[in-house]
Amino acid sequence: MTHVYLCGLRGTGKTSVAEELGCLLHRPSYDLDAEIQKISQKSVAQIFSEGGEEAFRDIESQVLAAVAEYPSGVISLGGGAVLRLRNREIIRRSGHCVYLHALPATILDRLSSDPKSISQRPRLTTLSPIDEIEFLLKERQGFYREVAEFEVTTDDCSVSVVAQRIARWLGQGDD
Ligand code: S3P
Repeated sequence: MTHVYLCGLRGTGKTSVAEELGCLLHRPSYDLDAEIQKISQKSVAQIFSEGGEEAFRDIESQVLAAVAEYPSGVISLGGGAVLRLRNREIIRRSGHCVYLHALPATILDRLSSDPKSISQRPRLTTLSPIDEIEFLLKERQGFYREVAEFEVTTDDCSVSVVAQRIARWLGQGDD
């Protein structure tokens, strides 16, 4: 299957861009966290609170392997889906990946103004929210760049502009 994967930290716009890009490319879009919730019948927060981050990562890897076999689509990955080598291999083998990035201050702004964020996005460290974002960016940036073939900065761009840029990069956009 050749998918288009979107990777990047929480709050970089992956889910909204995946939906828009799916429409532009006439392909289905999937959100890895939503698939995890559908398959496990549990919310992400519930999986974290019952089994901790490792339990979540195990389920995330299993669901990614299953989603990679879906018909060709646009897949928005959870922010930490690139942490495991096996996941990075699956992503590279089954599609093209785009890294969406934004400044930590932009991410904090978006997450703080999203009412679902607090209940649906478990904290990953004991750091303050801005320090957590900076820490995760340092930890993960190398992995995002390892799997992605293209990068888009989303700070000042609308969802549709980001989706159009990716479509053009794929050779399927309007000029
Ligand atoms: C996580 C990001 C979340 C979700 C889980 C862990 C992370 O996905 O997978 O809460 O480790 O950054 P989003 O990036 O879609 O919010």
